[in-house]
Formats: sequence, C-alpha cells, structure tokens
Amino acid sequence: MARKILIAGNWKMNKTATEAADLAGQIIKAVGNQSDIDVLMCPPFTSIAAVSELVGNSTVRVGAQNMSDKASGAYTGEISAAMLRDLRVSYVILGHSERRSYYGETDEFINRKVLACLENNLKPVLCVGETLEEREAGKVESVIKTQLVGGLKDVPAEKAETIVIAYEPVWAIGTGKTATPDQAQEVHAFIRAQLVELFGTVGSSIRILYGGSMKPANADELLAKPDIDGGLIGGAALVAKDFLALVESGVKAQSKSA
Ligand code: PGA
Repeated sequence: MARKILIAGNWKMNKTATEAADLAGQIIKAVGNQSDIDVLMCPPFTSIAAVSELVGNSTVRVGAQNMSDKASGAYTGEISAAMLRDLRVSYVILGHSERRSYYGETDEFINRKVLACLENNLKPVLCVGETLEEREAGKVESVIKTQLVGGLKDVPAEKAETIVIAYEPVWAIGTGKTATPDQAQEVHAFIRAQLVELFGTVGSSIRILYGGSMKPANADELLAKPDIDGGLIGGAALVAKDFLALVESGVKAQSKSA
C-alpha cells in the first residue's frame, strides 16, 4: 500500500515568533503547493500564529508539539485542541521522549491526549522509542508494544487512519547517532504488525516516521526502507537548507515507491 511520505520538523523550544516566521517563510516559499508528499512544521506554541499566517495556499501544514487532554477550564498553562484548531493546526506531536522523561508523561496520560486530538479532528503524531539501556537489555519490542498499546487504547479503527506514529530511539535523539536503516526498519516492521493487530487493515495505511538525528546525509537510505514513511526531524529542521534537502529526499523516495 502506498502511503504518502510525511516530512515533519519538530522545532522544540527554539525560535522566537520573529525567527520562526523567517524560517517558515523560507520553507513555505520553497515547498509551495507541491502535493507529492506532506510537509509539516511544528513550532513552539508562541510561534504558531505567526507561522500559520504565512502558510496561505501552500500545502505546508502546521503542527503543535503538545496539547492538553482537557477541553477548557482551570488548567493554568495548558493549551486546548480548540485553541490549536483556531490557529489552523492540523497535527500534534504527543508523547515525545523529552516529555516522557523530563515531564513524567505516562502512556495513560498520553492516551487521553491522543483521544482528545482525534475527537477534535487533529492528527496525533504519537512518539515511541526505547532508551539505550532498554535496547541493550533486549527489551525493544516490549517497550514499543507497551507504548503503542497504552497510547492507542480505545482508539476506534475508523479513526486510526489519521494517526501518525514516530519511532524515535531515545539514544538517537539529538546525539548525532542514527539507527542504521536496517535497525530502524526492523522496529518499523514490528510497529506495523502491532498496528495491524490493533486496527486490522487500517493498520497498514498508518504512517510510521523515523526520528533521531535524521539529516540530509542519511535520509535517502532510511526513506528507502519499506516501512519508513517519513521523518520527524529536530536539529536539521531548524536550518531551512537542511530541512528542504530532507523534503527533496522525501519526494525522491515517494516517486520510487509509486
Ligand atoms: P533530532 O530530534 O533530529 O534532533 O535527533 C528528533 C526529535 O526529537 O524529534
């Protein structure tokens, strides 16, 4: 089944609104309204409005890096699905390993956010991945399975198609160490099998992105793998030239898989 490649930039806590508009402007101008692949930018909350305003009729999409599981009310410091939708956000990164490890987010909490996203027609980008310690202890599959089953609990199969999974081995994030294409494919194939088990045939149309030091130098090899449907990119997404090279790699890989 041909899945549409998604190249997504996770800007993390980088770029003021002014800086974000500058980076987004360069990306939007270059990507324009190509529709071969999906391109996504996820700036910090404070830059979303500025970035969304620039999108115009470009096909580039805007995402958020987190979201509240609650709809509204007395939750100081939180941001709701409705607030994001109002700013033309269409995707939300959830369960990133930095949120799991620094802010104590659990699978159960992340699951509530996934469900809130889907109820509001936002596409969750659910991140999963093992630490180096877990990999060395031979626990990759059990860790990933727990994160997937926990994070996707109660998701109905008819809503599952819009979900995106990002496999991000924690030891590869921001370290310059990338999983080899074979290592990544092995886990992606395992994730694919879990998704089919959870959702039936819909599981084979869910996109699985690779994340963890993806850059122009290693993207072609990773994207050539059958179950790698794009990338969630941190560091290299902050430099327009690098991110656009990754978009190019995505377009190339999509044309080969067609
Ligand atoms: P990186 O980050 O590309 O800088 O490793 C990826 C991510 O954390 O999403």
